[in-house]
Amino acid sequence: MDKQNRKAIIAGNWKMNKTATEAKALIHELIPAVKDAGCEVVICVPFTDLVTAVELTKGTNIHVGAENVHFEKSGAFTGEISADMLTDLGVEYVVIGHSERRQYFAETDETVNKRTKAALAGGLKPIVCVGESLTQREQGVTEELVRMQVKIALNGVTEDELKNVVIAYEPIWAIGTGKTATSDQAEEVCAAIRKVVGELYGETAAKGLTVQYGGSMNAKNAEELLGKPNVDGGLIGGASLKADQFAIIVDAATKG
Ligand code: 13P
Repeated sequence: MDKQNRKAIIAGNWKMNKTATEAKALIHELIPAVKDAGCEVVICVPFTDLVTAVELTKGTNIHVGAENVHFEKSGAFTGEISADMLTDLGVEYVVIGHSERRQYFAETDETVNKRTKAALAGGLKPIVCVGESLTQREQGVTEELVRMQVKIALNGVTEDELKNVVIAYEPIWAIGTGKTATSDQAEEVCAAIRKVVGELYGETAAKGLTVQYGGSMNAKNAEELLGKPNVDGGLIGGASLKADQFAIIVDAATKG
């Protein structure tokens, strides 16, 4: 089956949680809990935790990601962090276009595209987030909207660069609400994402793309969601802050 050819990735998105001191404690718990993972394990942490995370995970199977990156290479952008700054630290992944950034920090499809290209140019693997609001779902425009978000995010990304891109389908109404998409809803949209990537880059590229689901994924529902043919992993918020819960999700992806 196609799924076996793709990299299953479970990524924690810590959001604005954990001081460096708290991060240290959580990572110490995580390392033994996920050491036998049969999937790729990533923790995307606040900028202030990156040094700690990279240091502590050296020689382990845990990869480190940031939660955002600026699109310019360097310069007068007070408060921003560039791709080079992240790769220099040993950071591998970066979350781009999370709905919280779109909602609270004026992120648009265009800036998502610029960040995606900057991340790739800097050697990072972007986890590009897409997903509809509850109103958009009720209006019946989910697929069109997600297709458009994917197309704009990937505008100018080459087929070779696409190999380093992960797309996360995160329905906004399911984030932090405890309201998970059903596995069929997740599958439907993840399949639509693969389809549009196929239209843009061809079948082979689409078959190799890792598509994650995110939105209240937890120890209880992970196995069912990750069992779907087009769901290759998860982007986990709340449940990534508890080592035992995160480890159960990692195990579920291993079974996938
Ligand atoms: P929750 O798992 O807390 O719903 O968050 C999902 C998310 O936004 C991951 O990026």
